[in-house]
Amino acid sequence: MKHLLKLGGLTPQEILHFLDVADEYKRLHRAGQDPKDLQGRAVALVFAKHSTRTRASLEVGIYQMGGLGTYLSAHDLQTARGEPIQDTARVLGRYYDAIVCRTYKQTDLDALAQYSGVPVISGMTDYAHPLQVLTDLMTVREYKGRLTGLQAGFIGDGYNMANSLIAGCLAVGMRLTVACPRGYRPAADVLRLAQGYGDAFRLVSDPDEAARDADVLFTDVWVSMGMEREAERRRRDFTGYTVDAARLALAKPDCMVQHPLPAHRGEEIAPDVLEQHAAEIFDEAENRLHMGKAVLAVLLAGK
Ligand code: CP
Repeated sequence: MKHLLKLGGLTPQEILHFLDVADEYKRLHRAGQDPKDLQGRAVALVFAKHSTRTRASLEVGIYQMGGLGTYLSAHDLQTARGEPIQDTARVLGRYYDAIVCRTYKQTDLDALAQYSGVPVISGMTDYAHPLQVLTDLMTVREYKGRLTGLQAGFIGDGYNMANSLIAGCLAVGMRLTVACPRGYRPAADVLRLAQGYGDAFRLVSDPDEAARDADVLFTDVWVSMGMEREAERRRRDFTGYTVDAARLALAKPDCMVQHPLPAHRGEEIAPDVLEQHAAEIFDEAENRLHMGKAVLAVLLAGK
């Protein structure tokens, strides 16, 4: 595998390998031994959208691995003044050993991968958030001890998190019910991929159906970055889709809750649910560090 642009198309073995490597980096970090697997390597961190976790975890992770991470705001690059992505890719590829990019269009990420000549890792696009979902799978396995056969639910927008959860959860043998309002369905190609998993996948509009008997419940914001002008309509359309205590009561008693953050309390998640599940949600946030290192190590250091 040269790039990590999305989870669709990865084998279960490739996904589980990322989880195993991340577990090992976490264990070593806890033991005070951070392997310098990126010694002398440089990674460009290109961001066209805001970020706390993705940027910070990668900057710290690359430092722990002995490499250099350079944050490059897409607003400061010449791309903001019209330089084509193909040219930017070819230039960055001559300086850096890998590029992490958070941008809007998946096709822009694909162009970066096509022209840069170095591994490209998605830091999130409108279509996918593979680093986050690999982290979520790591965290779920950490808590539950397994992935195969677990019942997962996602309640919210059929956007990047839903797309990546469908590809990731189904690949590792989980069952997944996605609940979203009409008009907010996941991407068509992802739904086609899900069809191959038979009744392990369900797409519904009733959020209670996604919560029922769940081992893990995922949610995400209703108004993602770049959608601010639609905020009012979205809040109206997603009314009734909050993960709250009554809905969580439909799940298994030991159901865990995962949220990629930032959370909007009172919208997609009730404040008491977030606080009661803070341990696993902030473990999920911590695991972004270990997973970021694992993905770089697999793509750059042959782990
Ligand atoms: N979950 C996530 O990607 O967080 P940031 O937007 O803060 O990077």
